[in-house]
Amino acid sequence: MNQQGSYQISTIASNIEKELERLRAQVDLFWDKELKHYKEYGLKDGMSVVEIGSGPGFLTEKILENFSSIQITSVEIDPLLVDYAKSYLTQKNHTRFEITQGSIMETGLPENSFDFALVRLLLEHLTDPIDAVREVLRILKPGGKAVFVDNDFEMHIITYPQILQLRELYDAYCKARYAEGGNPRIGRELPMLLKKGGFSKIDLEIICAHSEILGEGIFFKSEGIGIPTKLVQDGFLSSKALGEISIEWRNMIKSKEHSLVRQLYMAVGEKPL
Ligand SMILES: C[S@@+](CC[C@H](N)C(=O)[O-])C[C@H]1O[C@@H](n2cnc3c(N)ncnc32)[C@H](O)[C@@H]1O
Repeated sequence: MNQQGSYQISTIASNIEKELERLRAQVDLFWDKELKHYKEYGLKDGMSVVEIGSGPGFLTEKILENFSSIQITSVEIDPLLVDYAKSYLTQKNHTRFEITQGSIMETGLPENSFDFALVRLLLEHLTDPIDAVREVLRILKPGGKAVFVDNDFEMHIITYPQILQLRELYDAYCKARYAEGGNPRIGRELPMLLKKGGFSKIDLEIICAHSEILGEGIFFKSEGIGIPTKLVQDGFLSSKALGEISIEWRNMIKSKEHSLVRQLYMAVGEKPL
């Protein structure tokens, strides 16, 4: 089984540096809303937190900055990103973290160890998300909470004025991720997955970022051209279609009134006592 599923930083986009920038912007884009929900779900100082699929460490950084006595254990499968996150967080003088290389399918962490688990933008890339959910349940303490954040590419960025051709881009993205064993429309399935995985007190929120509130610069950084370019290179999207989308995108940006909106799905569950 390919445990890395449909996300590998070296192949998902045409340029690693740009992909890192995109991941950072994607954390910034939703951070205020996510933090509000993490707190509402019980995240607080003094907790032991596990974050799985921590990537370059941008979410880890936000947690460390916002909670002065949380200790985080991060698990990331890609050695390149483990090294990147370690040096990035160390340069920022953070100490309350530990990052290990491993898979969410078998973290090797002891059971009943953590108060809170964060799994952001990982389940959608896995062939067997249910086994991942069960592993998270295993390492949580009874009464501990887990939050799984994912996309559902039925809705990605929507714009005003509407760009009809974006549907073609999202369909191409979905085909590419399905071909690699991921599930880019997993958002709607999250409550069922958590239930099957053994969680109780399950809830789901769809959080939203809007350019009128956040400015459009952050949206541009969180999209980029790296993934669409790779979709063309890999034959999932025609260069003609990408050209048309680029023209419509420019027209949308040029129009006097325009907006960009994007959503993420946040599912929470508790490990039964
Ligand atoms: C889209 S990135 C999200 C990174 C980070 N969570 C964020 O929100 O910015 C998905 C991350 O999950 C990692 N990953 C993929 N398969 C994994 C697995 N089986 N176990 C742990 N991490 C995995 C990837 O290497 C990548 O860093």
